[in-house]
Amino acid sequence: MPERRILVTSALPYANGHIHLGHLVEYLMTDIWARFQRLAGHRTVYVCADDTHGTAIMIRAQQEGRSEEEVIAEMSAAHQRDFADFQIAFDHYGSTHSESNRRLAHEIWAAHRASGLVFEQSVEQLFDPERGVFLADRFVRGTCPHCGAEGQAGDNCSSCGRTYAPTDLKDPISTLSGATPVVRSAQHLFVDLERQRPFLADWVADGERLQPEIANYLRGYFLEKPAQSGEGLEPLRPWDVSRPAPYFGFEIPDSPGNYFYVWFDAPIGYIAATADWCAKAGETFADWWRTDSVEIHHFIGKDITYFHTLFWPAMLKTAGFTLPRRVQIHGFLTVNGEKMSKRTGTFVLARTYLDHLDPAYLRYYYASKLGPRVEDLDLNLDEFADRVNSHLVGKVVNLASRSARFLEGATLGMAYPDDEGLFAAAAEKGAEIARAYESCDLARAMREVMALADRANEYVDRKQPWQLKKQPGRDAELMDVCTVALNLFRQLVVYLAPVLPKLAADAAALLGEPITDWAQASQPLLGTPVGKFHHLMQRVDPKQVAAMISASTVDSDAATTPEVSKATDDGPETLAAEPLAPECTIDDFTKVDLRIARVVAAEDVKEAQKLLKLTVSLGGETRRTLFAGIKAAYRPEDLVGRLVVVVANLAPRKMKFGTSEGMICAAGPGGTELFVLSPDPGAKPGQRIH
Ligand code: MSP
Ligand code: ZN
Repeated sequence: MPERRILVTSALPYANGHIHLGHLVEYLMTDIWARFQRLAGHRTVYVCADDTHGTAIMIRAQQEGRSEEEVIAEMSAAHQRDFADFQIAFDHYGSTHSESNRRLAHEIWAAHRASGLVFEQSVEQLFDPERGVFLADRFVRGTCPHCGAEGQAGDNCSSCGRTYAPTDLKDPISTLSGATPVVRSAQHLFVDLERQRPFLADWVADGERLQPEIANYLRGYFLEKPAQSGEGLEPLRPWDVSRPAPYFGFEIPDSPGNYFYVWFDAPIGYIAATADWCAKAGETFADWWRTDSVEIHHFIGKDITYFHTLFWPAMLKTAGFTLPRRVQIHGFLTVNGEKMSKRTGTFVLARTYLDHLDPAYLRYYYASKLGPRVEDLDLNLDEFADRVNSHLVGKVVNLASRSARFLEGATLGMAYPDDEGLFAAAAEKGAEIARAYESCDLARAMREVMALADRANEYVDRKQPWQLKKQPGRDAELMDVCTVALNLFRQLVVYLAPVLPKLAADAAALLGEPITDWAQASQPLLGTPVGKFHHLMQRVDPKQVAAMISASTVDSDAATTPEVSKATDDGPETLAAEPLAPECTIDDFTKVDLRIARVVAAEDVKEAQKLLKLTVSLGGETRRTLFAGIKAAYRPEDLVGRLVVVVANLAPRKMKFGTSEGMICAAGPGGTELFVLSPDPGAKPGQRIH
């Protein structure tokens, strides 16, 4: 059989948020599948990248007063740390904001132009006149045009469930600025999908590219006329692939002022990441994307099906790249039977999980629940702890912990003892377990492995090595039993290695030979030294699970704050005008004694251009006199009675008109643009600010 060459991808995570347990369903599933293929001896390359373009990143960068490049660099580093700590082993992790992706996007675009599939059409969109941006649906709210419910999103009504265009909303507002959007039209570029229908109908029906439920759905709804129904199909809607400036992305080379829509260059990121990997690994790019001798496997979630099963194959076909062999689609994660929620602490970030629990637990738990169908997966937290404890610790690790210590410092036997046929039977199961992995039925693979683990444990229960140890003259028997038990353990570990790479490495260290090949499960290991037994895995402590949930719980007010609130239409200029001071310690900060004070008297210093003379009370008899340069911004009578914040331990300073015994806190560039700080109601003069 010729060597299989396999290119594996996961969907490129958006750079505007952190990785959470929902994402991990996909990245763990893909990593396990890719590791299985490597172990089975196939040339396997797993690439991914951050998806960096679009309005959301642009808005976030504006709000944080940073460049888009800074935001995406930071997020990419965070994503890669999370993935690495979950033992997800990419061959390359790239970015859609890369030169290789720009070059490939240009190339694929040129092919679309050349094929005559591109046309221009004017599109009406809501535009935020204050922020100067076109508003994606999720940045608009208004009154439903059908039922009159207020505060509805830009594309559908949560009250009556109907859909509409954002331009149909009544009394729309921009959630970015609170401004009333205006309708503006702009020329957009479209790809004619209808002309690709015959190709797509074939592609969808061809072989094992899609799960049957997906293939049937697409065929029925989009691509083929149902046999009996007299009605024709509606034409496939053209795909709008451009966005007018301002937009964070790649400008379209032959259409200045227009940018590729994020979903146009995002999947091209798969190709770009491969190209970058080729450059790094000394591989020929054409061997991976310009040939039918490679198998391309995309793993994605159900929400992005159309992009990968219609638009993407059509793009690849137009530009002459290799079509995917398979698009493997998974369902969504629920936690304890419900959608992940910040309020109940079930919206758990990858990092929060890692702060409390071993990544191996989640790798195994997801594997034990992931089948080949497009079904949602429930993370039930009680089941999670039970399953990890009873399967991994109770069955697999226990096998080693009950036998390894009797051979510590010795070696496995030189000949494989009679084991009642257990090893041979488990070796024979290998092919079936491999088929389960291959077809993404990880749950079945795990069930098979645990059934083998049960048989191995029954053997140890019968042989009771700890009793043999106590009986003089039975050393040889003890050695045989432990040689069998450790070989059965190692066989399980080979089968589990794609899911539990750390356990595989630890077992290899214990038994003196690395695990590199699926076939190792059919050959007993003999004569190698047995190392010191260290605990291979701790039990899940339900307290750790509870701590993770409590660390993920956000109080309900904060949780319901909209993603982008009206109040935060702040530009980056202010911070840029006065960059942050060098870092200081808490000790530096506590040297400055800030206090609440009440202004008890205020007068104009006639001879001075800018100064007011203030008398403030720190409570009781304690008064301070200070001179503040705020004359242009405040009238003295408006200050009297107000609570302010003062630096109360500033060394007194002699000035022309008297001694200033402190400083009043104010912000702003100066002149009329000065803003005196005041505390929330309830604060009392004399209180310290911490
Ligand atoms: N950036 C796009 C993908 C571009 S691919 C060329 C995107 N990013 S995402 O960050 O929103 O999602 C990345 C992947 O994680 C998607 O396949 C998505 O389906 C999956 N998941 C995100 N949340 C999920 C759950 N709650 N449950 C399971 N998978 C989920 O989509
Ligand atoms: Zn409605």
